[in-house]
Amino acid sequence: PIKPQRTESNKGGKKENKEKEKVMKIFFGTQTRTAEDFSRIIEKESKKIGIPCEVVDLESYDVEDLANEWFVMFLVSTHGEGDPTDNAKEFYLWLTNDERPTDLLTGVPFTVFGLGNKTYEHYNAVARVIDRRMEELGAKRAFERGEGDDDATLEEDFNHWKKRMWPVICPFLGYELKATDEDKFVPRFRMVTLDSENKDITNPFLKVVPTISKPKTSVDGKTIYDIKNPYYATITENRELHSSESDRSCRHIEFALGGAVTYQTGDHLGIYPINDGELVEKLIQRLGVNGEEIISLIPADQEGNIIKASFGPMSIRKALSEHFDITNPPRKSVLRTLSEYTTDEQEKKKLLRLASEEASEEYNQFIKHDFRSIGELLDNFPNLKPNIAHFLEFIPRLPARYYSISSSPNHKKDTVSITSVVVNFTTPTSRFHNGVASTWLSNLKVGDKVPLFVRESHFRLPSNTNKPVIMVGPGTGLAPFRGFLQEMQHKSVNSSESLLFFGCRSDTIDYLYKEELEQYKSTGVIGDLIVAFSRKTNEKVYVQNKIMEHKHKVWDLIHNKGAHFYICGDARNMAKSVQQSLVSLIKELGSKDDNSAQQYIEDMESVKKIINISSI
Ligand code: 2AM
Repeated sequence: PIKPQRTESNKGGKKENKEKEKVMKIFFGTQTRTAEDFSRIIEKESKKIGIPCEVVDLESYDVEDLANEWFVMFLVSTHGEGDPTDNAKEFYLWLTNDERPTDLLTGVPFTVFGLGNKTYEHYNAVARVIDRRMEELGAKRAFERGEGDDDATLEEDFNHWKKRMWPVICPFLGYELKATDEDKFVPRFRMVTLDSENKDITNPFLKVVPTISKPKTSVDGKTIYDIKNPYYATITENRELHSSESDRSCRHIEFALGGAVTYQTGDHLGIYPINDGELVEKLIQRLGVNGEEIISLIPADQEGNIIKASFGPMSIRKALSEHFDITNPPRKSVLRTLSEYTTDEQEKKKLLRLASEEASEEYNQFIKHDFRSIGELLDNFPNLKPNIAHFLEFIPRLPARYYSISSSPNHKKDTVSITSVVVNFTTPTSRFHNGVASTWLSNLKVGDKVPLFVRESHFRLPSNTNKPVIMVGPGTGLAPFRGFLQEMQHKSVNSSESLLFFGCRSDTIDYLYKEELEQYKSTGVIGDLIVAFSRKTNEKVYVQNKIMEHKHKVWDLIHNKGAHFYICGDARNMAKSVQQSLVSLIKELGSKDDNSAQQYIEDMESVKKIINISSI
């Protein structure tokens, strides 16, 4: 584990008398496993070149060793408001501590690739900070930082970066650059089929034992539930929030936390969903495997009679249902690997072309735009017959999905709720796509169990409870504000001036928590509840229009009363328009030009008086 404090004995730099081990460390900071998948690609290429390397989860790295590393590479994602991922949090805190001596990492060569999303503010903030801090502490940047944009071209950005990186890093480390692409898939694991005693059915002398990692515990000995060890919470409520007039569905889902998990108002809930059963059966058939078979992936290079599993043991059906992403469009690296499993030259050519650098347009159209899943791809390529053992290694894992918590822990003890709109759409190829988590959750019953964990956020009510708040949350953007309102009511804060802007299609279709919200207004928990109906009349009315309608009040609150302004919901369109309406009211009522209005907003953001957690 990371030790945040350096000891006296090695203060100021390297551990004495320790020969540098010539192993490149590839550190990943990941929330959805993408950075980890990228690390495996680097590992593979690095091994082909001959550079010894090791992929390291930042959470399990002992920072005491950093000053003594031969070469380090960071592949790190930025989440939330410029935050590190859960597994990189402690490392990030350690690295950014101002008290570190500036020669702490003298001469340690490093490079950084960041995974971010341009739709959000703080684009790739974590990668930038790590890059800067490493240099400030004396480390030597061996190759420039790369940045990938998950909103557009993340995988291409990564490929482009590593293509330029190897020719610099190889000579730097004293290795000859060899072609890194195009080679065959080299499995890291071997799949074994097991009997009821977990013995290999083809070799009863080999027994596989599951890897049981000890869960983290707090100082008082309580189990800590997190992304790696979720808590199985029981559903206590699952009800529809839209009326029968609606063509969509939005669920209020509550879970009992049984005293095992705690959270704060404004946090997020991570949930591990299960894939649609029909899709899984179809895939099992298409792959020609027996879903009941108990399998395990074990390290390919390990021998012996008792081997620790890298994955499993579990049935193929359970693996495909709970652990692998079978619905999202596959990455280019997956297409390249898939091309090895078709007997048809035309199919092979097409897959290789889709995976190539030149055919980005084709990939974007055929895979991303058409939203082709792995299953659909297998339908389109009838001669493609992936080997199940390899398939379970090269397709991505099913990541947790994050929801804004829509309750306050002080309202109903040991209970947490989310407000989840059921995602589904028809793809351009006329396939009906159901969002994995929202669809699965919507069908669960009271009493069912859901693996979940809490992810801390910065979305908090002002610490000074006398300050008014302005909350803007159309649709499910309302979720965290429901938690705020419960919290405000619990704390009896003086909120007679606070405003809630909510938006929906009409009061008879999708007005979420209507009675509750109206009650908060009538009991004075908020000063006003202002709702924008977009489909009630011929005129589209959105929250940003309502903000302009109430501009004098909004300006007075933010300028004279120190109000905090919160936005939650669709980042691509709504949040941007709301920011624009703020700029225009500041310009008009504060008599400012464009630049100074922008500056005014930045100043508010810097003291956390504007918080935007909108997502896409
Ligand atoms: P619409 O779908 O009728 O256009 C919650 O989904 C509410 O947000 C709906 O009333 C929806 O309106 C509205 N909405 C859609 N796009 C928006 C945007 N760009 N800005 C603000 N609200 C928007």
